Amino acid sequence: MLLLDNHFPMKKLVLSPWLLLRPLLERKRLEIIDGLPNNAMRLCSIKKLPSHCELLFYGQALIMNLPTSEMVQSCFVADHGSVNVVLSSKWMAKGIASMLTNGIDSWAPTLPVKRAVVDFCSPNIAKEMHVGHGRSTIIGDSLARMLEYSNVHVLRRNHVGDWGTNVGMLIEYLFEQFPGSDGTAVTAIGDLQSLYRDSKAKFYWDPDFRRKAQLAAVRLQGGDPAYLKPWAHICEISRTESAKVIKRLQVELEEKGESFYKPYIANMIGDLKSKGLVKESDGAQVMFIKDFMIPLMLVKSDGGFTYNTTDMAALWYRLNEEKAEWIIYVTEAGQQGHFDMLFKAARKAGWLPSNVKTYPRASHASFGKVHGGGNKQFRSRYTDTVPLVALLHEAKGRSKTALIKRGYDKEMTLDELDQTAEAVGCGALKSTSYTFSYDQMLSDKGDTAVYLLKVHARICSVIRKSGKDIDELKKRGKLALDHAEERALGLHLLQFTEAVEEACTKLLPNVVCKYLYKLSKQYTKFYFNCRVIGSAEETSRLLLCEATAIVMRKCFHLLGITPVDKL
Ligand code: ARG
Repeated sequence: MLLLDNHFPMKKLVLSPWLLLRPLLERKRLEIIDGLPNNAMRLCSIKKLPSHCELLFYGQALIMNLPTSEMVQSCFVADHGSVNVVLSSKWMAKGIASMLTNGIDSWAPTLPVKRAVVDFCSPNIAKEMHVGHGRSTIIGDSLARMLEYSNVHVLRRNHVGDWGTNVGMLIEYLFEQFPGSDGTAVTAIGDLQSLYRDSKAKFYWDPDFRRKAQLAAVRLQGGDPAYLKPWAHICEISRTESAKVIKRLQVELEEKGESFYKPYIANMIGDLKSKGLVKESDGAQVMFIKDFMIPLMLVKSDGGFTYNTTDMAALWYRLNEEKAEWIIYVTEAGQQGHFDMLFKAARKAGWLPSNVKTYPRASHASFGKVHGGGNKQFRSRYTDTVPLVALLHEAKGRSKTALIKRGYDKEMTLDELDQTAEAVGCGALKSTSYTFSYDQMLSDKGDTAVYLLKVHARICSVIRKSGKDIDELKKRGKLALDHAEERALGLHLLQFTEAVEEACTKLLPNVVCKYLYKLSKQYTKFYFNCRVIGSAEETSRLLLCEATAIVMRKCFHLLGITPVDKL
């Protein structure tokens, strides 16, 4: 919905009831909807329910007092009193033509911040990245892309879990399994992962081992070289492994794991202590937070630091050292409680303003668990979770088979076929719904990446087949939106900025997915109703095709999907 700001100066009011409405009109924004009724009626119904006659009267008054604008083609009062404002096709065409000349960056929204941290991906070391981390990576990357497009400087942070009891547990287990070694005997990620699983089982069942593991974490955090050496070795193996997946997903991010914040812990706790917020509880140092039964653990009784400690230090660092105005954490919804507590603690300490909507601000962009159909958790036959790399491999393989079935192997070089299969497979995986199904995500029907990529490829082929130099047309061709389907497509194109802005402010990249899906459907309608090549309106329609392709490509870019020219 396009919102027309009320910055239009009101004309002299001619009708007395307007005096009543004026303050409201000045405060409210008037909704401009193409052909759809808006609710100006609300304006009238504040004092008492107006009669039908009054509604028409107020509606008419509203129209009469609207200053003229090149944006508006006509206004009329609908039967129930709503004011319909029809946008001018000329004004719409001008907006699209200006984007064609100035580039899609001229359509970037303006956000209230200039610097943000997006904390995403963030796997734990020695554990393979699973579908949950995949989702965090995909959503986080997309949010970062949307903010970057909106001219926000984004610090993309991989908050790797490399510093907690889990790590101590694994190192202690390695010492036990390879007596006399320095804990660096294992080099294959697969072996490391299975040792991690075994150590976890032992941690659960064996209280002696549990104590040793906790002590190991304290030693590691204290900088004991005997623990630092295997730690660095394990981190390196995990890092190399996850880097492969991250690269395949075409995601950029910088690792600043939990251990990075060690030097800032003392200052952070010092700050809280100076404000009288740290309390002793059974030998531990904690912070009590309203509405939480269990306090926030800063230092355990054995001197160890927790997930809370490093997150508090990271938040402090991001606000004070990195000067971030908005810090966004992308994880599964299961961590909601942790972040609620963290943000409340930061507000209590005065690091964040008490009004949650003002900046600097911290937000949790959460998502649900991916399941495998029938509401069951998505898991592989052998392990609890499915490795992300296996999903990528399978999605690419299946999309390649589908391409060969359609005869593309005869049209494309081997390299082209491989790149297309990777782009389609990866795009499909990125846009999969919560119920994981290869068949559904690789289908070219409905709300899938494959369908969207196909519509884009069709637009490219129309432009190619016309034999026209589109850059030349952009310079001297004229765009008009005379046909109803041209108008509908044009209107949707003009709503792009709002879609991106909404996705950013609500932290929901899905808003852009929905926008893109609607755009593809709108284009398809236009394509079947308006001949492009060989028609009298060819130039204008080719320009509309080009504008659609540009907006689609920007959406793909924002969603981290690579568009293909042929499909
Ligand atoms: N390592 C955590 C996990 O795998 C996610 C970390 C999210 N970021 C943060 N700053 N807590 O669940």
